[in-house]
Amino acid sequence: MRTRITELLGIEHPIFQAAMSWASSNAPLVIAVSNAGGMGVLGAGPMRPDDFSSALKKIKQETRKPFGVNIPLNGTRAKELLDIAFAEKIPVMVASQGGPREHLARFRAIGTKWLHVVASVEHAKKAEAAGVDALVVDGAEAGGHPPPSNVSTLVLVRRVVRATRLPVVASGGVADGAGIAALLALGAEAVQLGTRFIATPEASVHENYKRAVLAAEVHDTCLVGPAALPIRQIRNAFTDKFLAASSSEREALFKAASLKQAALEGDVEWGKVEAGQSAGLVEDIVPAGELMQRLVRELDDARRRLASL
Ligand SMILES: Cc1cc2nc3c(=O)[nH]c(=O)nc-3n(C[C@H](O)[C@H](O)[C@H](O)COP(=O)(O)O)c2cc1C
Repeated sequence: MRTRITELLGIEHPIFQAAMSWASSNAPLVIAVSNAGGMGVLGAGPMRPDDFSSALKKIKQETRKPFGVNIPLNGTRAKELLDIAFAEKIPVMVASQGGPREHLARFRAIGTKWLHVVASVEHAKKAEAAGVDALVVDGAEAGGHPPPSNVSTLVLVRRVVRATRLPVVASGGVADGAGIAALLALGAEAVQLGTRFIATPEASVHENYKRAVLAAEVHDTCLVGPAALPIRQIRNAFTDKFLAASSSEREALFKAASLKQAALEGDVEWGKVEAGQSAGLVEDIVPAGELMQRLVRELDDARRRLASL
């Protein structure tokens, strides 16, 4: 399948494995997805600079296909991570949180394609004006940071496709090929899946985290944190306590729990088990390369089904 995104990035399938702090902050998941013809994205946000640098070297050794790197631009280590990404001449940047403008010329000079993650029409227009190559549009179903406006992927992607000229990668709420077909039908030119890729042997999170994703139903996630920057995660003892607390108690509770606690230590009761509503569509743990083949098969089935109606 050819779209403006597959052409821009030189990938075989219009399928991205989303950047996920900890879950994709390691080389194996990225390598498996990129080798299978998709876009594997390294979640650099929580990585120490030396780990980031060695992960990039390993990815470059083990795949000749394009891969991406996510750096939250307002993170405390952003400058250092950007310098390493530049030195390693990464093929694709999937930047989030913060303005891209000051970085574009430098990365463009080494051939990096710059995609920017947005969760509103306003930010989509700003990123387009700054000159990025494409947008990743996150809707409310998404795990991690969904839009504070709570507008669904179905509506936001369609609105951004109509409001900008840039190719769009749709993100949030997709766990199979039928979902990918649906968002391509809206005008997206690739689709990004995060939560689905947590349930792979390559995702670098604790087994308890993967089991929590498998066990979750579609209604088992909720939003916690500040209204201006909420996170979507699977309900647990922490979210119950947070949601029952008064607004003055909430900040301290939110700070006391972390994604790392759930992802690395396996504390899925008191940690932040970030995942999207699509957790309710995930039923098995499959190697990422096999998952890619399955997604492509399901996408073909969905297209055939639509054509036959
Ligand atoms: C555990 C987890 C960690 C995430 N970490 C990041 C991150 O570091 N940077 C980022 O831009 N997005 C992050 N996200 C958001 C994903 O990139 C993506 O937008 C989201 O997973 C899509 O929704 P889905 O989970 O329904 O597929 C994270 C999502 C999850 C589930």
